[in-house]
Amino acid sequence: MVLTAEIRKLKKERNAVVLAHNYQLEEVQQVADYVGDSFYLSKIAAGVEHEVIVFCGVRFMAETAKILSPQKTVLLPESGAGCPLADMVTAEGIREMKARYPGVPVLCYINSSVEVKAECDVCCTSANAVKVVSSLPDRRIIFAPDENLGQYVAQKVPDKELILWRGRCVTHAKVRQEDVKLARAKYPEAKILIHPECDPAVVALADFAGSTLQIINYARESDASIFVIGTEVGVLYNLKTLCPDKQFFLLHPGLVCPNMKMIRLTSVYEALINNQYEINVDEELARRAKQMLNKMLELA
Ligand code: 13P
Repeated sequence: MVLTAEIRKLKKERNAVVLAHNYQLEEVQQVADYVGDSFYLSKIAAGVEHEVIVFCGVRFMAETAKILSPQKTVLLPESGAGCPLADMVTAEGIREMKARYPGVPVLCYINSSVEVKAECDVCCTSANAVKVVSSLPDRRIIFAPDENLGQYVAQKVPDKELILWRGRCVTHAKVRQEDVKLARAKYPEAKILIHPECDPAVVALADFAGSTLQIINYARESDASIFVIGTEVGVLYNLKTLCPDKQFFLLHPGLVCPNMKMIRLTSVYEALINNQYEINVDEELARRAKQMLNKMLELA
């Protein structure tokens, strides 16, 4: 309680805004000014007036905020909070892909480093990947790094040919078809909502697939009262707060992202007190990455 009050005071003193991804711990979401999915938070980061952005998420998210708002101080409260999926692709790997498929545009998932983004033509998040692919004039598109999301998009937009990078989110990849079948048997009246970073065979069994924010909105608007959630456990906090009369169950006990869980309330406090850990990106890389991010913001 004391720490929460201190954080609120520091936010005012430093003209800081706290952004938190839906996967953050409850205690962190509670002190955030904005909570949402990657797309929503990117738009917020691009538009806020504050001098300091404390990004409670993983490194690529804070980096994206810095690229979109270069004049601001962007802080990632735990320097080790990375994204194994983002680490599965390198700028060199993208350059090799481009050499192998000359003239084919590269669409890059936001879960990627600034170095990778700088090599790519356009960005997407899980909330807008289908829309971005549909909007591109090209039939063939290279998509990196999430193979599962790429396959999901390829099914939704069958007139396009996606050349897929072989990366995956280790947390979402834990879910098996068997887990969905067991959930259906246990909660026959439940709606099953799954993130498209899961295996496409798993996603095919869902009642709805979407980003974390889209999953939350679906549950809010649905007439159903029981839901089984196939994404990281952090979304349950918002779901239970926004829909107190509905019941939510996690599809798999392993849906916990250790990187997202690194940030605690103490990390947010220390970030504001010690100005840590400041995110800086190479100016030239950031300029190129901003172009592909802006293209996403236009198309989506
Ligand atoms: P969202 O697009 O729902 O924010 O998902 C981001 C992510 O990294 C999922 O693992």
